[in-house]
Amino acid sequence: RASALPDARMVTLTIDGATVEVPEGTSIMRAAALGGTSIPKLCATDNLEAFGSCRVCLVEVEGRAGYPASCTTPVTPGMVVRTQSERLTQLRRGVMELYISDHPLDCLTCSANGDCELQDVAGAVGLRDVRYGYEGANHLAADKDESNPYFAFDPTKCIVCSRCVRACDEVQGTFALTVEGRGFDSVIAASQSEDFLSSECVSCGACVQACPTSALIEKSVEAIGTPDRAVVTTCAYCGVGCTFRAE
Ligand code: FES
Repeated sequence: RASALPDARMVTLTIDGATVEVPEGTSIMRAAALGGTSIPKLCATDNLEAFGSCRVCLVEVEGRAGYPASCTTPVTPGMVVRTQSERLTQLRRGVMELYISDHPLDCLTCSANGDCELQDVAGAVGLRDVRYGYEGANHLAADKDESNPYFAFDPTKCIVCSRCVRACDEVQGTFALTVEGRGFDSVIAASQSEDFLSSECVSCGACVQACPTSALIEKSVEAIGTPDRAVVTTCAYCGVGCTFRAE
């Protein structure tokens, strides 16, 4: 049972056979997490508004056609949810195939190797092969934006989940990033600017923290790798959380 504000109405539902009680308005994904069940996800995080774009978090709801995204679907009383089934694994694997078909396959030399949510989800759904080839537009030479002194942006590794855009908006309130184009042509870009450095970006790092791949990555991590230990402190200035790194 999740704790709630005193006047919040509680909703009881079943997730993978277990009874869960959560405040009204809670998403299925959040209710599952509160009940100890982790649903694969790429565009959702704990601190950003649900967006529902990646379609990795699909679930089955008894009596309901289709496969709703658990991050954007609120619980209802008596709802019966399944988060794991052969069909769901097939669907999630299909979604991951599309992502990987438009992503470089350089994991072994990538700075995010071992610390990449795309890699984690691909492994979790048992992705072994991609039927669509590896010819997505993002594989074509795309300019890396290294204008910011602290981090770099590599569009070839971007899955356009928009977590960086939402972090910039919702966490920092800077609105320095946007999504341009559609479909395979969609790309994260500095809003109304040539690059990150000339944009409204204040180098707070919220976008880098939000990125599930290494599309946005600290230059120090690129140079010396992921630290063995990190201590995060948060001050009142921006609330992002600065990281002290120890090797
Ligand atoms: Fe739900 Fe991306 S995590 S659609």
